[in-house]
Amino acid sequence: MVPKISTLSGYLYEYQKSVANPAGFWSHIAETFYWHKPWTKTLEWDFHKPEVKWFLNGQLNITENIFERHLFLRAKQPAIIWEPNDPSEPHRVLTYEELYEEVNRFANVLKSLGVKKGDRVAMYLPMIPELVIVMLATARIGAIHSIVFAGFSAKALAERINDAQAKILITADGGFRGTKVIPLKQTADEAIRSTPIVEKTIVVRRVGQNIQWNDNRDLWWHDLMKDASPRCEAEIMDAEDPLFILYTSGSTGKPKGVLHTIGGYMVYTAYTFRNVFQYRDGDVYFCAADIGWITGHSYIVYGPLLEGATSVMFEGIPTYPKPDRYWQIIEKYGVNEFYTSPTAIRSLLAKGEEWVDKYEMPTLRVLGTVGEPINEEAWHWYHDHVGKGRCPIVDTWWQTETGGIMISPLAGIIPTKPAYATLPLPGVRPVIVDNEGKKLYGKNVEGNLCIEFPWPGMARTLWGDHERYKQAYFSAFPGLYFTGDGVKRDEDGYYRILGRIDDVINVSGHRLGTAEIENALNEHPLVAESAVVGYPHPIKGQGIYAFVVAPEKLKGLDDELRESLRKGVAKLISPIAKPDKIQFVSGLPKTRSGKIMRRILRKIVQGSTDFGDTSTLTNPEIIEELIQGYQK
Ligand code: PRX
Repeated sequence: MVPKISTLSGYLYEYQKSVANPAGFWSHIAETFYWHKPWTKTLEWDFHKPEVKWFLNGQLNITENIFERHLFLRAKQPAIIWEPNDPSEPHRVLTYEELYEEVNRFANVLKSLGVKKGDRVAMYLPMIPELVIVMLATARIGAIHSIVFAGFSAKALAERINDAQAKILITADGGFRGTKVIPLKQTADEAIRSTPIVEKTIVVRRVGQNIQWNDNRDLWWHDLMKDASPRCEAEIMDAEDPLFILYTSGSTGKPKGVLHTIGGYMVYTAYTFRNVFQYRDGDVYFCAADIGWITGHSYIVYGPLLEGATSVMFEGIPTYPKPDRYWQIIEKYGVNEFYTSPTAIRSLLAKGEEWVDKYEMPTLRVLGTVGEPINEEAWHWYHDHVGKGRCPIVDTWWQTETGGIMISPLAGIIPTKPAYATLPLPGVRPVIVDNEGKKLYGKNVEGNLCIEFPWPGMARTLWGDHERYKQAYFSAFPGLYFTGDGVKRDEDGYYRILGRIDDVINVSGHRLGTAEIENALNEHPLVAESAVVGYPHPIKGQGIYAFVVAPEKLKGLDDELRESLRKGVAKLISPIAKPDKIQFVSGLPKTRSGKIMRRILRKIVQGSTDFGDTSTLTNPEIIEELIQGYQK
């Protein structure tokens, strides 16, 4: 087990130590894991190149650190408790021993299909235990997993499979979400038409619907698993070998394949899990995220299982069949730590207090939030109605690229403050810089959030495009990792995340690139050009507002075109990327060099008229038209 901080002075001591001697600090933590060969050097780094390596030449397998390391004590302890979408269906429990055997069986299946160390395996699965099994089986044999969120479209899936060059895809006949059945196999089939690389598709039966079948390519999970051996020796890996690729949105159209490596990610997720949530052995922990995103990777699967925790995994949505589903689950399993998003909290808050107040939830000790800024109203509701005033809230700031939590209270140790992520974790060195890159020290400052020193969980590159990694994170402020977020440090030295300052918007905690949505809108034959910005939304945090340049003659057909554009975006990206509001315009505010002045669009959708300097615009008259047509 990793060392656990238990007091405020302990935190200050560890923090100081981590700054004074980072290599010594992280070595001490890494020593608590099982390595085939110890590392010869703890850290090598250069943020200019950029290059970061941790635990150099160390050899290990991450799944041995989940299973072999824990089986002695925890064979019969639940590793995963799976709660289905429909509460009348039986739940499933996989103990450490059972999960181990399933992972080994599937590792053997992958091997029998010719998957080798370093190969990529893609997953397009609902929230079912098989998703955890395939992730860990892939890691067991040294292959690289690439999980695609099951809400993505065929085109988005194909794009990710092709970029990673995955030869195997694992999917399901469908997935349940509330009252809906999601036709995953059908979408996967559509994607595969444009992914010549995929040799085999393995299909898990979940919904029992009729699906198209390709005898040359498709294989049933249950057929393959039937005779597979429950023992598979773990591949011995280098600490810096890749563990997984996870695609995320950036400010240009193409998704970025964020790459995490084994050793550093393992040490970082386990350490942050244990310390932020103050997990105690025997606790039941429930993270309500989806494994298709980083939160699920790090804090449903790797962090908790590396620490021998019992992790609850939920297939459904918080409002089905009723808006008390989370509270029911918490009482059913005696959950001690609960982790969700501000959007989920706001949507449940909107349903009324009666749904939560009837649940005592006496076992709850810690509440967490992640993914977007939490507003004070939601924070207080979460604290008072869910936590009954007795559970600290850990507002955890981090990113796909950071691998694990970076700025957050340690539950019950660092005093909280609504809407503040509070203080950096040990080993994390945030710095605030102004737009010229000048570091802003002291209290009451606001600016761009950067990190000035490497931490083990950080992404090492973007798959197949190291230059883009450099451009995206290390070029805005040379020598620093730039997060893309704005931040404020207050009079207590506490950090408050202000949100993205690049062309990325955060909708219901989902990160979307405005360029991606614009590209999808521009595919429509009637659209000349478009610009997408985020606007404040009471539930989703940010909503998607699209300004679309479409021909004059369309007048009167606006609603039809709007619907068709929304459908187009859902088809090309995902329903989560559908614009909430679409305004047809005759032009967009542009500078002489032809760049859209997005700053003005952002102001308009915030209802502000304080546009600053507009003298470089070629068409300042357009602003009046945009304001007139702005839909509140
Ligand atoms: O803007 C920040 C926001 O989510 C972004 C990262 O998104 P993603 O890579 O999808 O990872 C989300 C889950 C870790 C950040 O750049 N964000 C994340 N956590 C918080 C947050 N904004 C405010 N407060 C947070 N606690």
